[in-house]
Amino acid sequence: MREVKRLVAEVCRVYGTIHVLVNNAGILGPREFLVDYPLSSWEEVLKANLTAVFMVTKEVLGVMMPQRTGSIINVSSGVGRVGKSRWGAYAAAKFGVEGLTQVLADEMRDYHIRVNTVNPGGTRTEMRAQAYPEEDPMILPAPEEITGVFVYLASPESQAETGKSFDARDWLKNKN
Ligand SMILES: NC(=O)c1ccc[n+]([C@@H]2O[C@H](COP(=O)([O-])OP(=O)(O)OC[C@H]3O[C@@H](n4cnc5c(N)ncnc54)[C@H](OP(=O)(O)O)[C@@H]3O)[C@@H](O)[C@H]2O)c1
Repeated sequence: MREVKRLVAEVCRVYGTIHVLVNNAGILGPREFLVDYPLSSWEEVLKANLTAVFMVTKEVLGVMMPQRTGSIINVSSGVGRVGKSRWGAYAAAKFGVEGLTQVLADEMRDYHIRVNTVNPGGTRTEMRAQAYPEEDPMILPAPEEITGVFVYLASPESQAETGKSFDARDWLKNKN
């Protein structure tokens, strides 16, 4: 927790405050059946993909609550909404992120802090290549092609949106 506190303090020192938090960092973990899933990997993936979201968010709320505004965007996944074979702790953690988002959105309504999730969909990154080594990465959008929904949720345009689950690709399709 000491490092998280230092991170948030440093961002505030440099930028004055925090209006937007994107909880994006994550790890894949083994693509194993649950029956074979090692406990150590389970704990590692939950820590990086769910507990860390809680820790960073908790610290950032200390900045957002007094200013009574903010937008928290939690990066989820398709398997955080519909479970699939061999997605193990990764899927369980993303379901957790969806749940955390709904609870926090409800708790933060009076503070005008909105909390939503975004499923990026298959995107051309290292994690995707690790999960689907046979796939041609060039058939996937690059991260910079799916940022529209993030910009929308970070902007005052999305003031009414909270406790919702967005899909980056659907959002782009519906917008165009
Ligand atoms: N790519 C997809 O198709 C896809 C689909 C659905 C959801 N997602 C979600 O999108 C988000 C980004 O994934 P990605 O595809 O960009 O993955 P990625 O290529 O593996 O990048 C993961 C990022 O998370 C950071 N990270 C991992 N563990 C960390 C830790 N303990 N502390 C600090 N930073 C850490 C990494 O930093 P370092 O490089 O410094 O390690 C890296 O910047 C994740 O939440 C993932 O679950 C991705």
